[in-house]
Amino acid sequence: APSDFGLIGLAVMGQNLVLNVESRGFAVSVYNRTPAATEAFVAAHPGKRITGHASLTAFVQSLSRPRRVMLMVKAGAAVDAVIEQLIPLLEQDDIIIDGGNSLYTDTERRDAWLTPLGLRFIGAGVSGGEEGARKGPSIMPGGPASTWAAMRPVFEAIAAQVDGQPCVVHIGPGGAGHYVKMIHNGIEYGDMQLICEAYALLQAAGLSNARMAAVFDQWNQGELQSYLIQITARALEQVDAETGRHVVDLILDKAGQKGTGQWTQLNAAENAVVISTINAAVEARVLSSQKDQRVAASGQLQGPAGRLEVDAERLITQVHDALFASKIVSYAQGLDLMRTMGAKKGWGLDLGAIAGIWRGGCIIRAQFLRHITAAYQADPGLQNLMLAPYFQTVLNRSQAAWRQVVAQAVSAGIPVPAFGASLAYFDSLRSARLPANLLQAQRDFFGAHTYERIDKPAGQWFHTAWPEVIG
Ligand code: 6PG
Repeated sequence: APSDFGLIGLAVMGQNLVLNVESRGFAVSVYNRTPAATEAFVAAHPGKRITGHASLTAFVQSLSRPRRVMLMVKAGAAVDAVIEQLIPLLEQDDIIIDGGNSLYTDTERRDAWLTPLGLRFIGAGVSGGEEGARKGPSIMPGGPASTWAAMRPVFEAIAAQVDGQPCVVHIGPGGAGHYVKMIHNGIEYGDMQLICEAYALLQAAGLSNARMAAVFDQWNQGELQSYLIQITARALEQVDAETGRHVVDLILDKAGQKGTGQWTQLNAAENAVVISTINAAVEARVLSSQKDQRVAASGQLQGPAGRLEVDAERLITQVHDALFASKIVSYAQGLDLMRTMGAKKGWGLDLGAIAGIWRGGCIIRAQFLRHITAAYQADPGLQNLMLAPYFQTVLNRSQAAWRQVVAQAVSAGIPVPAFGASLAYFDSLRSARLPANLLQAQRDFFGAHTYERIDKPAGQWFHTAWPEVIG
């Protein structure tokens, strides 16, 4: 019998997605560039409705129509190469789904390439790592609504479920799905950096790894409940079998990144949207990777020793509040970017529904996302998440502790770029007046750029005959 679903690319994510799809009652055909990997995978899973194919032609022929072919290959040139090979083998209305971390503009290009050929294309963000792929990821599919309808039964069957709801919705046309996955990753970077700053502060106050693990476990019971907080607790208590030391203490402090955070930065710059917390997170990874420079500078540039002589219990509470408030700012910024870009592209993004499908399966899954969904349900035109009643209350309640955390960190010489960026955004947003009046004076001074006045109607532009400056 023909298979219901085909998957190309049997790296771990691909393998786990196949097992997930098969476990939901679908027969799956698989293909990998290296046939040995296909054989090994099929042999490792006897008794399952999985068939391996050594040739792409046989793979395509084994699928029921319209064919549903999912690609789980490395983002970039490999996706184009596989599509090139598939085109002559596929027929009218067959569907190609790219489930990798593709750049949304590549997805738009592929959509424009395949649609005139009569093929249907879905660019789907898939989040949740290896475990999510196996047990239920969060899926962010973009493409025409009719193609979504054809894919919906499979996507809904394999996605994570929260409160009986599958963690997948049709995001929008074209590159919308991969775009939203990119923003998810930017937010993921922000969450991770904020947690690392909380860790740095608790460590500076002398807390042991075991104690910090207990703190994160406790936080995971409350408003901060999330997958990333949970894995942080587990990571902090992990002991290295060889040395008996904590693994975190042995890991080199140089962070890697594969580029989705930088894509988010670029897109924010193009749209003139402030995502300062995500920017700080990406930049913190960059600086962390320049270990040699940091080691050299640590002997040359002076400052406090980076220790906090404070009451630990009090600090734990303050850092909790600072972390939650900073996280809210980070999400507000990511949502602002999605809102702006969605409007520009006419994607019709439903921000509440997007937050809803992030509640399960994905890396940023967290309880608090339900408050985001509720905020957009109550006010679909919400300009800034921070102004929704629930988030306003949390921010106003947290701001005093948040300031103390940042102030103490600055005084002790502990870098907290993401906490600091979030707080500065909060303070800028609540400033009815900023020093940009002087900035406008400077622009007018050297370039006659003109300015508006507070004592004249808006839209009238003025220029001052500034004195001549020599030297
Ligand atoms: C996910 C993750 C996953 C990966 C990112 C970030 O949602 O499952 O976002 O896609 O972790 O690519 O990876 P880097 O940290 O290496 O940039």
